[in-house]
Amino acid sequence: MAEPIRVLVTGAAGQIAYSLLYSIAKGDVFGKDQPIILVLLDIPPMLPVLDGVVMELQDCALPLLREVIPTDKVEVGFKDLDAAILTVKVLVVGNPANTNCLIASKSAPSIPKENFSCLTRLDHNRARSQVAMRCEVPADAVKNVIIWGNHSSTQYPDVHHAVVKLSSNEVPAFDAVNDDSWLKGDFISTVQLRGAAVIKARKLSSAMSAAKAICDHMRDWWFGTLDGEFMSMGVYAGGNSYGIPEDLIYSFPVHIKNKTWTIHGGLPINDFSRAKMDATAAELVEERDTALSFLSQ
Ligand code: LMR
Repeated sequence: MAEPIRVLVTGAAGQIAYSLLYSIAKGDVFGKDQPIILVLLDIPPMLPVLDGVVMELQDCALPLLREVIPTDKVEVGFKDLDAAILTVKVLVVGNPANTNCLIASKSAPSIPKENFSCLTRLDHNRARSQVAMRCEVPADAVKNVIIWGNHSSTQYPDVHHAVVKLSSNEVPAFDAVNDDSWLKGDFISTVQLRGAAVIKARKLSSAMSAAKAICDHMRDWWFGTLDGEFMSMGVYAGGNSYGIPEDLIYSFPVHIKNKTWTIHGGLPINDFSRAKMDATAAELVEERDTALSFLSQ
């Protein structure tokens, strides 16, 4: 058995963490042979709730879970993770996720920018599922959807490069769906507004699907993406990908190998897509500039 790895989850008494921790602790993210020490950080008023979460994790009797460390102290939460500072992978989920991730990265300049990412896998999964339901196929029959840009209502869910497996043939999503006006209209707005729709219905923001997406994102970062497949991930834009301005955390299609992501380059972008990719980039520039001017006051 491998040495245990220390995994820090912040906001650990919250509802996304409540859906997430069990999956991490039972090996869905880092593998079935990887023992885990869970470090659970939250603010002081949440500590009594956190105690309940710790009890439940213990009561799951999970063989991979070697230790659970609940704390409200950042020094304790991050202790001993500094030994792994060059390899640490940071996934930011709290909104505005892209800009929060950018600020986190700027605040920790000793950690490479490539080690920071924000969650757009939830949007990616939503797009995949919408197309799958429309084509009446399982979700994994749809691949290579892309979420471009911000995890907000300006995001651009793009299926121009997606394929759908129908019987044994992979066909372009536009052919499989056979309804361009849906794909360029309601499909996009449904995915863009899905988080708000869940909040309206549940009176709470998404938690089960967010936790599932966090697991998908981290598992792929750890183990890599499948050949011929890319996933959406909010990553640092260096100014040389798809004409997106630098110094943003922007969601791109990525491949992952050896725990390192690479933006999938060279996809042809039509005018329809270009306008939407630029609009969501413009929103991120504005968010970044607002955040930076606030922080410099
Ligand atoms: C989601 O996409 O479900 C969430 O980001 C929505 C929210 O505002 O919490």
